[in-house]
Amino acid sequence: MHTPHWRPQLHFSPRQHWINDPNGLVWHAGEYHLFYQYNPQGDTWGHMSWGHAVSTDLLHWEELPVAIPEDTDWMIFSGSVVVDHAHTSGFGDGVEAPMVAIYTGHAQQSDADGLHRQNQQLAWSTDRGRSWHKYPGNPVLDLGSGGFRDPKVFWHAPSSRWVMLVSMADEGYLRFFTSADLTRWAPASDCRIDLPGCRVWECPDLTRLPVAGEPDAWLLKFDVFHGHPGGGSGALGVVGDFDGERFTPRQAPQWLDGGMDFYAAIAFGAMPPRDSRCVWLGWMLSHHYGKATPTQPWRGAMTVPRELGLSRIDGQLHVVQQPARELLVSRGAPWTCPAAALPGGRSVLTASLSAPGSDRAVQAWDLRIEVDAQQANGWSLGLRVGGGEITRVGVDRARGELFIDRRHSGVDPGIGGFAGVRRLPWHGARDERVTLRILLDASSVEVFSSDGAAVLTETIYPREDSRGVVLESDAAVVLHRLTAWPLQVPARAPAP
Ligand code: FRU
Repeated sequence: MHTPHWRPQLHFSPRQHWINDPNGLVWHAGEYHLFYQYNPQGDTWGHMSWGHAVSTDLLHWEELPVAIPEDTDWMIFSGSVVVDHAHTSGFGDGVEAPMVAIYTGHAQQSDADGLHRQNQQLAWSTDRGRSWHKYPGNPVLDLGSGGFRDPKVFWHAPSSRWVMLVSMADEGYLRFFTSADLTRWAPASDCRIDLPGCRVWECPDLTRLPVAGEPDAWLLKFDVFHGHPGGGSGALGVVGDFDGERFTPRQAPQWLDGGMDFYAAIAFGAMPPRDSRCVWLGWMLSHHYGKATPTQPWRGAMTVPRELGLSRIDGQLHVVQQPARELLVSRGAPWTCPAAALPGGRSVLTASLSAPGSDRAVQAWDLRIEVDAQQANGWSLGLRVGGGEITRVGVDRARGELFIDRRHSGVDPGIGGFAGVRRLPWHGARDERVTLRILLDASSVEVFSSDGAAVLTETIYPREDSRGVVLESDAAVVLHRLTAWPLQVPARAPAP
């Protein structure tokens, strides 16, 4: 049974089959490339290959044929893409700068000791990523390990070298290597961070970010399969310094998303000329229940591209994220709820999200709500409300937290702790007046605090006609404004 009413409008999802991590994000020759972990044969994890989509505006994605397919020996796990403008690798004809993919090969067969070996391999393309040549000298790095994956490669200008950051997944640390030509790699340093309970480290990334009025800092990010406070997997960020060989933390790690469906994010390795933003996106699902989610004929989507920054808040550098500004162009004429003083209680405001001037169901909305809590200890906005279904997004002032509650959000995959309340400390949550921005798509909710320091991402699978909105609070509140822009991204080609 197909489920078009859950098809993301604003977010990339494949026409059919399973996806997980974004891979090889890069802008090159007028196009943003989104490669991703893809099963070309089915709607659960397996046969991992690199799928491919391109965009000229970060909003509309065109799905292309599989870029790098698995072969009889290796599955193609996560990794990155660089554009070798200086022709250090010698790949190609020496005229067209090759795109070089650095990915993990995961052995199809196990060794005598039962281990599926993981090593780092290369492929290159000189036709804007449409066709790829696997490097005959693969692998370029092999430690004989079964937990050695997800290389992130970037050019480090001060040392005129390529740097690779890669995860020792099972041992729970990261390793740096350097290279002059992308084929011969030398060990540079190990990066160990004490994180009790955080197991299986994956998908590292390292990005230099500006800080207002201070020297730049580096953000090291990696994901842990187990250990997120919400009960599943999640992304951790560590702010520090990088000298081309070694990362030195300045602060304790911070969770980068309080929800369950933000994983394996990586930043675009190159952006268009004169665009100095750091933009990243993640996989908007979880391995803990992804295989049981009810969407058909696809499973998995990406988050919206997010602009990434660092802000000093209460003495600490905080990672801040906001939806990429490109998304604003998809806003249609807004629906607004006038300012009002509302008594406390359930459903103090009720409304229904449908397109202005019609009853056509709009699947994607950009909501902005500003509430003055006054005496209230907490308030929440209920979304996709109807027939016993509700997804609550709110502020717990006493605990100083933002939360999302999908215990009654619709279809529950029934495994992996899907149904639950996820909470994230946010310094602004104790304030009386709070503004939240919520991107609501056909089967997802992304919540951004006004300063971007707190983000919650979760998938939901409500009934098509659950379209209500309610505001609830434990005492009188003032609603300063609630604005809902329908997001009118042109429809996708119908699924085959
Ligand atoms: C993270 C991950 C990566 C791996 C890929 C395989 O979701 O497990 O560590 O490379 O997915 O699909």
